[in-house]
Amino acid sequence: MTRVFSGIKPTGAVQLGNLLGALRSWVREQHEADSFYCVVDLHALTVPQDPTELRARTLELAQVLLAVGIDPDVATLFIQSHVPEHTELAWILECTAAFGELRRMTQFKDKSEGAEFVSAGLFTYPALMAADILLYDTDRVPVGDDQRQHLELARDLAIRFNHRYGAGTDVFVVPEAAIPTVGARVMDLQHPTRKMSKSEDSPQGTILVLEDLTSVERKIKRAVTDTETEVRFDPEAKPGVSNLLSIMAAITGEEPETIATRYTRYGPLKADAAELVCELLRPIQQRYAELLADPGGTAAILAKGAEKARAVAAPTLARAREALGLVPRS
Ligand code: TYM
Repeated sequence: MTRVFSGIKPTGAVQLGNLLGALRSWVREQHEADSFYCVVDLHALTVPQDPTELRARTLELAQVLLAVGIDPDVATLFIQSHVPEHTELAWILECTAAFGELRRMTQFKDKSEGAEFVSAGLFTYPALMAADILLYDTDRVPVGDDQRQHLELARDLAIRFNHRYGAGTDVFVVPEAAIPTVGARVMDLQHPTRKMSKSEDSPQGTILVLEDLTSVERKIKRAVTDTETEVRFDPEAKPGVSNLLSIMAAITGEEPETIATRYTRYGPLKADAAELVCELLRPIQQRYAELLADPGGTAAILAKGAEKARAVAAPTLARAREALGLVPRS
């Protein structure tokens, strides 16, 4: 059976881009493949975190994933740091990756530029991400467009490791990225040339999955468009309008160009976009409220998930250790 793996960081609150770019694919994939979904708390540590907040956000994120529709009876849901194989394989892959290769990662460049403190972990982040993926013999990784380069690196590392140490049999499966055709890059509503992100620097441009729906509606109605009035899908010339059309397309499954033909003014377009987003979020928020009442249930799901994940990750790590010439642990 095909194996799917993906992860999400517990930094900031889950936003619409996470949902449309990744989480909706996770929900679909769980019925088509053997799926492993991970709250990657160790990745959050690459920038300083408040301990109380990190703990709360990690559990909140697990509950949002359940509310979005991850079914723990079908998929394996777990917390990265509960499976220590991730960090051990990460070291091995740091020694497989070239310094220059990591230095070329655009996310590292973006996040380190102008930062007061740049941790070594921020630099080696993609090796940990590759470890996450390779531990599960993953065939397919559903992610948004911003993870494309990291996925390429994970593939390169798998191929290089197999070539160096495989001795005729591959140690790692070479994964493929699965990036949706629409919704892979949801843009900020106020700055439509940059992607919507969890970071708190653009609250008016970001829609949170758990946000009050009146506020969601208001933000979409105030989204930046342009001084023209024509509704047309043209991300270069009309990034704001095109972003709204892409969001609608990702929700309805229609083409953004087709949706555009139904509008002659921005007002009705925004009103319909707001309604579609609210209809998408409403049931998720209802399920989340139910889950809040049962934190013990979520903890039990995560404990079982970690056990299932470890049963797959440990043999893969043992294979890598053996191939490298590390003496087996007895
Ligand atoms: P993270 O936590 O930033 O985001 C989780 C997922 O949401 C997607 N995404 C978006 N998609 C469309 N439009 C947007 N504006 C938008 N913002 C975020 C991301 O592409 C991602 O799929 N490095 C990863 C986490 C990770 C991971 C992994 C992913 C760690 N290990 C192994 C896959 C496999 C990250 O920071 O995602």
